[in-house]
Amino acid sequence: MAHSTTPHGRPAEAFVLLLSLALAVLAACGPGKTAKETAAPNPATAAAPPPALAAVPPMGFNTWNKFACDVDEGLIRQTADAMVETGMLAAGYKYLVIDDCWQVDRGPDGRIIADPKRFAGGMKALADYVHGKGLLFGLYTDLGTKTCQGRPGSLGFHDIDAATYAEWGIDYIKVDWCNADNLDARKEYTSFRDALRRAGRPIVLSICEWGRNDPWNWAPGVGQLWRTTADIGDDWASVAWIAAANNLHADAAGPGAWNDPDMLEVGNGGMTFDEYKTHFSLWAVMAAPLMAGNDLRAMTAETKSILLNGEVIAVDQDPLGVQGRIVIDRGYGGQVWMKPLADGSKAVAFVNSTAGELAQYVRWSQIGLPPGPARVRDLWARAELGVHADTGVRFDERFEVKVPSHGVVLVRIWPGAVR
Ligand code: GLA
Repeated sequence: MAHSTTPHGRPAEAFVLLLSLALAVLAACGPGKTAKETAAPNPATAAAPPPALAAVPPMGFNTWNKFACDVDEGLIRQTADAMVETGMLAAGYKYLVIDDCWQVDRGPDGRIIADPKRFAGGMKALADYVHGKGLLFGLYTDLGTKTCQGRPGSLGFHDIDAATYAEWGIDYIKVDWCNADNLDARKEYTSFRDALRRAGRPIVLSICEWGRNDPWNWAPGVGQLWRTTADIGDDWASVAWIAAANNLHADAAGPGAWNDPDMLEVGNGGMTFDEYKTHFSLWAVMAAPLMAGNDLRAMTAETKSILLNGEVIAVDQDPLGVQGRIVIDRGYGGQVWMKPLADGSKAVAFVNSTAGELAQYVRWSQIGLPPGPARVRDLWARAELGVHADTGVRFDERFEVKVPSHGVVLVRIWPGAVR
């Protein structure tokens, strides 16, 4: 043989093997890192929840607005069934959350106890049922001594509660702030987040301290959503003031971190069809969590047409994750809201708070569109409104709509030529 051999023979193969091993180690380590550095886990990132948790605003159902304390496992199972049968799950509503009143006591070991009469099968079995439907499951607690309805709070029990939820298979926890008067909200919610991390299950943390402690300044990174206001009511005045208040904090929102203007009242009977469409449109434009709060087992066709409008839901769930805001407030009850979307289009909501019909308009320059033609689609009429050209020169080039009292016209506008 012309080439030299080693005592082990096959020198060329041995060299190639060594070389590829060395290359594999280098590739695994990345530039500038040693194998030792790569192998050692980073405690900070090892404990972090997956970045995809609530990458878009959470959607689902919560018991509170319709059922208050009248909750039991029958209702939850029937609601889970209804979420599948009505198409709610397919439309994106995946979290089924039990609010206050499921819990009655703590055991001698400090473990929270679900109401043994109303939840006789236990929370683990209920979570299994909900998961079996393809849904995710959520519960409620409170960081004070007691919940808002006087049930045991989590003060002093962060770790044991988080571990219990993880063991049951909980995916979402709404955490309230009643009976917590002398506590530091940022500190307590951060401690609860850390307990959830230690429990080792990805669980969405829904912060509910009603905007009392300026959560928009500290809640991103602590929870995935935080309430910005006091509780919603099933009436137009409530929707109007909550939207105005929530609008003030648009800058704080983004993927994994959402302002929460509270759960939906659509379908609960206190507002007109137009008012509910406005409510839902505003929540979508504000990239709000969409938690239905009505009886999903008995929805009218009108209610379904709102909650299941996929084009409006797509505005809310847009991956760009920007909270839309008021771009024009005309002072006399006419507002224009705009949310930029990932594909370069804009969702624009014309809202009318007056007692009669109102004509409203925009120029493309007022909603961030370049001068020229743009395709306009009405998301409630589900109809193309044609190509509208505003070259920015003449006032009569404005885009104008007529909005009913307490109603909305919600459009999506794509700049440029027709697609
Ligand atoms: C507070 C919350 C509500 C609801 C109730 C339950 O008021 O803001 O959303 O959870 O408590 O008691």
